[in-house]
Amino acid sequence: MPRTPLISQAQIRTAVVRLGAEINERYGAHELTVVSVLHGALVFTADLIRRLDMPVRLHTVSARSYHAQATAPGELQVQADGLAELRDRHVLLVDDILDTGRTLAHLSTLIRAASPASLRLVALLDKPSRRSTPVQADFVGFEIPDVFVVGYGLDHDGRFRNLPDISVLAPAGTPGHADAPRPGPPGDTLDLRPE
Ligand code: XMP
Repeated sequence: MPRTPLISQAQIRTAVVRLGAEINERYGAHELTVVSVLHGALVFTADLIRRLDMPVRLHTVSARSYHAQATAPGELQVQADGLAELRDRHVLLVDDILDTGRTLAHLSTLIRAASPASLRLVALLDKPSRRSTPVQADFVGFEIPDVFVVGYGLDHDGRFRNLPDISVLAPAGTPGHADAPRPGPPGDTLDLRPE
């Protein structure tokens, strides 16, 4: 399936630096436990934690809602062991993309049950037009339209995670094509138009 460029490597790098600065400012020197949602957030998490100045612990959970070759979500499958360790910790839940909101809402409920000192959410990408479960990320990289994206950790049927940039998995002229990506969140001056 053809891919249309959406967010370049340089734009991702700039957003990760901005998010790191926002998180450093919010938490100061407090130790942070980053919970990364595998597999999609693996690449983003690796880059983000290297922008953080406070002591950081890393924890992973797994979530899957796109099965085989689907570009629409199916049943949500979650593996989240060892959450009791999060008790009294400042937790930052990191995901690649906030879409319907099901994944982060479900994981937030599981983590809150472990009584962390605090819980905040980071999403590299946010598709607010797709939200069916009310959940909002505290830190967002880019707001994007309702298109299926791959690259920088995001996959289709297990492929494309290794691509350094993010592209739309649909040919130009089809409904999934990002002809007019929206600008990022307030304060984000990045131009998301394909290069
Ligand atoms: P929900 O709907 O639970 O979705 O907020 C979050 C999870 O769904 C996956 N997802 C995508 N994966 N391209 C992908 O490769 C997409 O456009 C996309 N939209 C949602 C992703 O795993 C995310 O964690």
